[in-house]
Amino acid sequence: METKESPFQMYTSHKTTVNCKQQTPSLTTKPGRCHPSWDPPPAPTGAASAADPRRGPTTHTKYMQVTETAMDFLKMITVENQGTSVTIALLLIFLALLYWYSVFPYSILARCGIRHPKPLPFFGNMFLFRQGFIEPHNQLIKQYGRVCGYYLGRRPVVLVADPDMLKQILVKDFSSFPNRMTIKAATKPISESLLMLKDERWKRVRSILTPSFSSAKMREAGIMVPLINAATETLMRNLNVYAESGRSFDIHRCFGCFAMDVIASVGFGTQVDSQNNLDDPFVHHAQKFSSFTFFRPFMVVFIVFPFLISPLVGLIPNKSRDEMNSFFTSCVKKIIKQRDEQPPSQRRRDFLQLMLDVRSGQECAALEQFDVVNQADEQVPSHRGATAGEDPCGEAPRPVQKRMMTEDEIVGQAVLFLLAGYETSSSTLAVVCYLMAIHPECQEKLQREVDDFFSRHDSPDYDNVQELKYLEMVVSEALRLYPPGFRFARQVERDVTVNGVFLPKGATVEIPAGFLHRDPEHWPDPERFLPERFTAEAKASRHPFAYLPFGAGPRSCVGMRLAQLEIRMALVHVFRQFSLVASSETKVPLELKSSVTLGPKNGVFVRITRRGTGAEDPSQV
Ligand code: HEM
Repeated sequence: METKESPFQMYTSHKTTVNCKQQTPSLTTKPGRCHPSWDPPPAPTGAASAADPRRGPTTHTKYMQVTETAMDFLKMITVENQGTSVTIALLLIFLALLYWYSVFPYSILARCGIRHPKPLPFFGNMFLFRQGFIEPHNQLIKQYGRVCGYYLGRRPVVLVADPDMLKQILVKDFSSFPNRMTIKAATKPISESLLMLKDERWKRVRSILTPSFSSAKMREAGIMVPLINAATETLMRNLNVYAESGRSFDIHRCFGCFAMDVIASVGFGTQVDSQNNLDDPFVHHAQKFSSFTFFRPFMVVFIVFPFLISPLVGLIPNKSRDEMNSFFTSCVKKIIKQRDEQPPSQRRRDFLQLMLDVRSGQECAALEQFDVVNQADEQVPSHRGATAGEDPCGEAPRPVQKRMMTEDEIVGQAVLFLLAGYETSSSTLAVVCYLMAIHPECQEKLQREVDDFFSRHDSPDYDNVQELKYLEMVVSEALRLYPPGFRFARQVERDVTVNGVFLPKGATVEIPAGFLHRDPEHWPDPERFLPERFTAEAKASRHPFAYLPFGAGPRSCVGMRLAQLEIRMALVHVFRQFSLVASSETKVPLELKSSVTLGPKNGVFVRITRRGTGAEDPSQV
């Protein structure tokens, strides 16, 4: 008879091997294994085998056999019991290790003196954020102070809402915080985009891209302005349909389509009308980008067991992601091929072409020029035509480094338009319209400025929209109250002390711009919509790091100028031709979602009416 091995016994068999030597001769073992087998016992020897006259040899033999069998059985049970004990011991060790794994990171913040809510084993405080981040951020800061923390799964996060500390982290001590939080689940082409790149690769790609987003490029005739104008024409036609119907409608959706048309045109060299052409494959695939959420089952598993991400992320089937990635990759690669075959004069002047031009040029920017928000990129002219051996970015001489972008990186940057520019721009446009609808006196003031603008100019461009000071104040105040980039992060690269707070290597610093923008310490009556907060004098009297809609420092939003141009061009046309009116469907206050970006949760419903300004033809933009 063979005993069955449980998987666990197989695991413990080396222990029984040691015991094999101690087994009685009757408990035989088969070669190569240690389990006792039920082979007949060898003949008894010595005194114990002498015949007993009272029982007779047969009874005696039987007795001996039974005894030996019982002994063998008992010994077997002991071995089995030893196996069970080992099983239990290992199970206990496993549970102890699991418990240790589930709680061991949760002393880091306390050891740094950073106050935080009590974390749950494995999950930390992640369940605080099930409904979004903005409210929990406010609550955490209220309860634990302007520098406090929480655990996102096992990751310690330090919330910093102190403008002095932020200046240090984002600008002065940038080298200790050069990267964003690592997202290991990101795959190509998103992982190749500037948002996700790290260290030297980020620096190289950003140095190449910065000149493409410069004000010189924005104002260069025939690049961005005509492309945005074409998308604005479509927007006006679509809005006109709602004006004629007199119905309340979701203007956020219309701006989503407009932002998509701009991205398709500027980033992918493709003309679409996403409002009327939902079946367009570009629109169809691009819409999948905004469906990301933290609380997908796999994301939760990855937050709890982050070491599983790298081996598993490629193995877990994700048809939608794979389709989306291959669509955008082949789309961009096809265009690159077409452009390379065209003579230079016939190539469409869009952002994709600017990136392709970079392949043959040497134009790039140095780290000190990366700060778009503080206009650092405008202060130092970009270099051109550096010779081999010289660093074209004006940094200290070092071995020749190729300032090139691979095809994958070019695809990554095109996808970046969708990632960074779609929701941010469309939400900003929608909340400006919402605020104008519920503040008609501000809307009238804005319309007066716009009418005055069109008395002097035929159409908006990068330079003349800078004249629209009230529009600028309205957009700035809208971005204060509803900043789409309401939270952004930096990884702590090495142990560092900032303004007396110790930040451990590996922690994440999170900047709660949503809280900062409504902090009563910097903003009197913070809930009120007051564009006058952004007059030149008011701005000069405030801490500059209390307002961060586009971030700050070398890693600030590279697309800021493009976003501002797109937003102002669209709004100038909207308020020239239409007035916005709150309807019974307009939700006041606005319902917000705040997972990846901050924006309207269930759309922005308003009514729209045509103005009698002479600009009757909606396609006349
Ligand atoms: C209203 C519109 C926009 C807002 C509010 C916005 C806001 C932001 C914020 C807050 C950040 C993080 C900055 C930091 O970490 O310091 C950021 C980063 C970034 N944004 Fe924007 N953004 C907008 C539009 C755009 C557009 C249209 C693009 C187009 C390409 C873009 C490209 C980027 C990129 C590439 C980064 C990462 C920069 C880097 O890591 O080097 N953004 N944006």
